Amino acid sequence: MSLLRNTKLSVIGAGSVGSSLAYAALIRNSAREVVLYDLNAARAEAEVLDLAHGTPFTGASRITGGGDIEAVAGSDVIVVTAGAKQEPGQTRLDLAGVNARILEKLLPRLVELAPHAVIILVTNPCDVLTAVADQLVDLPAGQLFSSGTVLDSSRLRWLLAESAGVAPQNVHALIVGEHGDSEFALWSDATIGQTPLRDWTDESGTLLFPRERLESLTSDVVHAAYKIIAGKGATNYAIGLSGARIVEAVLRNERAILPVSSMLRGYRGIDGVALSVPSIVGSSGVERTLDVPMDDIEVELLHRSAEALRESIAHLG
Ligand code: 2OP
Repeated sequence: MSLLRNTKLSVIGAGSVGSSLAYAALIRNSAREVVLYDLNAARAEAEVLDLAHGTPFTGASRITGGGDIEAVAGSDVIVVTAGAKQEPGQTRLDLAGVNARILEKLLPRLVELAPHAVIILVTNPCDVLTAVADQLVDLPAGQLFSSGTVLDSSRLRWLLAESAGVAPQNVHALIVGEHGDSEFALWSDATIGQTPLRDWTDESGTLLFPRERLESLTSDVVHAAYKIIAGKGATNYAIGLSGARIVEAVLRNERAILPVSSMLRGYRGIDGVALSVPSIVGSSGVERTLDVPMDDIEVELLHRSAEALRESIAHLG
């Protein structure tokens, strides 16, 4: 897709997630200019050089960056990936304290340098950090949000597509709630093509997704990151692509419906906590959260997820 104007994306943190996100953004032409910043200047400079060497094979995007945070000035979008990552045996919520302290130092400076940038938090636990950020800086509602369950939803869509033997693009299913252990699928709303997911049959007419199958699919999604972390120490490619996809929704003012995590104010009775619900994402960030149909069990699960996040925020003090 061609880019009609100069767009600037800054990625904070040149670890495996930040670098993969920058790589995805270059290949997808998500922004005209990509800046990769890290406190560790040598690491950032090396990643930038490696990525820049590939740009003759990508589109019109260019990449710069290093250890100078001033380079983010004038960004249209800033994606924050900096922070401690989940080790085998840890949950995302275990990272809350250490990553909240990193955000406390970083975020006010980013807002000072690029006050109009839409800020997308990818660092975990992204929902808790969105609530922390809400206390740290005074931005218009929706200008700061987190990647939430966009990645989890893509994991679910891929699993369903593999089972049904269709393209993942034709699977419409969302994971909502915490980006973490209390997340859940909105089965009541899920479709493959135009067919409600629960009615989908194989060629012999057998229902492919009975209740037990849906439960095991949810469990596969919840445990996906643990499995990858056990095998290779981190997840990076799919979160990189998910992040780039969200950036595009903002930079192209798509008003795309994505399950990102923003501060909820009275959403189905949930207040003052950030978690993912289907949201319209455009040039000013989260422009609207959508009151999609949910059955009683889904509403109950949403409230439980909000409670888990509220407890984690309370522990931070
Ligand atoms: C993921 O879900 C660890 O949050 C990261 O891949």
